[in-house]
Amino acid sequence: MAGPAGVGHTENWSSRFAFVMAAVGSAVGLGNLVRFPAEAGSNGGGAFVIFYIFCVVMIGLPVLLAETVIGRYGKSSAVDSVSKLARASGRSPLWAAAAFVGMLGAYFILTYYSVIGGWVVYFAGVFVDDMASAVSGGTLTQGAFAGQNSEDVASMLGTLHGNAEMMVAMHALFMAITIFVVARGVTGGIEKVAVWLMPTFFLLFLAITVYSMLTGAFTETLSFLFSFEPSRLLDPNVMLSALGQALFSLSLGSALMITYGAYASADTDLAKTSGMIGSADTSVAIIAGLAIFPIVFAAMTPDLLAEVLSGEKPVPQGLGLMFSTLPVSFQTMPGGSLIGLLFFVMVFFAALTSSVALLEASVSWASRQFNISRSMTAVVLGLMAFAIGAVASFSFNTLADFKPLPFGIFDGLELFSILDTVTGKIMLPVSALLVAIFVGWIADKRIINAQNGLSGGTLALWRFLIAWLCPLVIAAILFFGLFPNLIKG
Ligand code: TRP
Repeated sequence: MAGPAGVGHTENWSSRFAFVMAAVGSAVGLGNLVRFPAEAGSNGGGAFVIFYIFCVVMIGLPVLLAETVIGRYGKSSAVDSVSKLARASGRSPLWAAAAFVGMLGAYFILTYYSVIGGWVVYFAGVFVDDMASAVSGGTLTQGAFAGQNSEDVASMLGTLHGNAEMMVAMHALFMAITIFVVARGVTGGIEKVAVWLMPTFFLLFLAITVYSMLTGAFTETLSFLFSFEPSRLLDPNVMLSALGQALFSLSLGSALMITYGAYASADTDLAKTSGMIGSADTSVAIIAGLAIFPIVFAAMTPDLLAEVLSGEKPVPQGLGLMFSTLPVSFQTMPGGSLIGLLFFVMVFFAALTSSVALLEASVSWASRQFNISRSMTAVVLGLMAFAIGAVASFSFNTLADFKPLPFGIFDGLELFSILDTVTGKIMLPVSALLVAIFVGWIADKRIINAQNGLSGGTLALWRFLIAWLCPLVIAAILFFGLFPNLIKG
């Protein structure tokens, strides 16, 4: 059902299925498959996971509904939707800052997201190569990289890092595909990609998880992911990481759910849809842990595994987990070449449906604001993001020791990690905080309640969460996460 034409009117998704797939596609991405396992690993496993789930349920879901409500009311870019709702409520249009901060956040995420997207494409290529030689050598049922020693496989990521041209070329390829999809429009590009790639993603994800549970070290994984030191539960940095990860993973505080909500038709039940998006995204994050760690643990020697599980040795962390530890692990898994290829194709699908959303958030605003065509805007903004990302990718190369911000949470970080930290730990939480205050206190309640599809007890609960719990908890976590010395004192 199309909304009334007029100021700010946008295209609509062609079906509710398309909306859910596009929104889930934006949410499920490198955040679930790379960032979540990495953050869980470096923040004490279980303590982080528990706080992450708390943040998803108590903060993520209410803010998700708030953002889609703003979008569907505004039927415009995220920034214009907020200012329209503010005006209709007799308030200052400057509240649009809530969406502006988020939009900038999404844009900065895109810059480095595409660099990693490029690595994913590269590794998919490596496995295609390996499959070809496995087929000709008749070793398809054995592990990947037959005949190579594991140090060489582990160092493939390092080799890629040393090869700046290759890294930038792959980043360019990934960004070009992203630009192409966004340029084709909401129904002509974004939605088409989502309705094909996301169902395929879920099939591959299911198959790989079952394979991993059957052939890998599953019980060890359970004890790693769900046991924790209680002392880390109240660590403000763990809490800020978990909040940042929850927002990042659900694509919140980054203008996107407002933008995609604007394309939702009047008969879409936003509360129900938000619930579906939230549960799909969270399940993928947790299950990704259950799919990745068994493969990794199975490839360790029993002694090493025991040391890792007892905390004597660190869990493989960060980007190395997916791009170095995992390829080595595929070496010992039966059918490793094929599984490895399917794995990286799956990650590519998830990453692409997220990167198009990351670009769409600013394209939908800029093309209206400056009155330029969608495709032109996508090209210009995409190329600028490419340039920033290309510079940041030298953090793995000649700029590895360039650590320009030696204070607070930025201390010791290179450009690449600065982009991730400033977005995840500052911009997304600030945007989500402003959205919660705006919907909880500033916007006209009648307008909000007419959009959200809630009534009775659930409406009262949501109002309490968005007006009280979300702002207070986000503000507290942000404050103590940024200035931890204040409580350590
Ligand atoms: N949710 C995405 C992921 O998990 C990352 C992301 C954060 C995002 N904010 C976004 C994607 C906004 C699209 C739009 O990988």
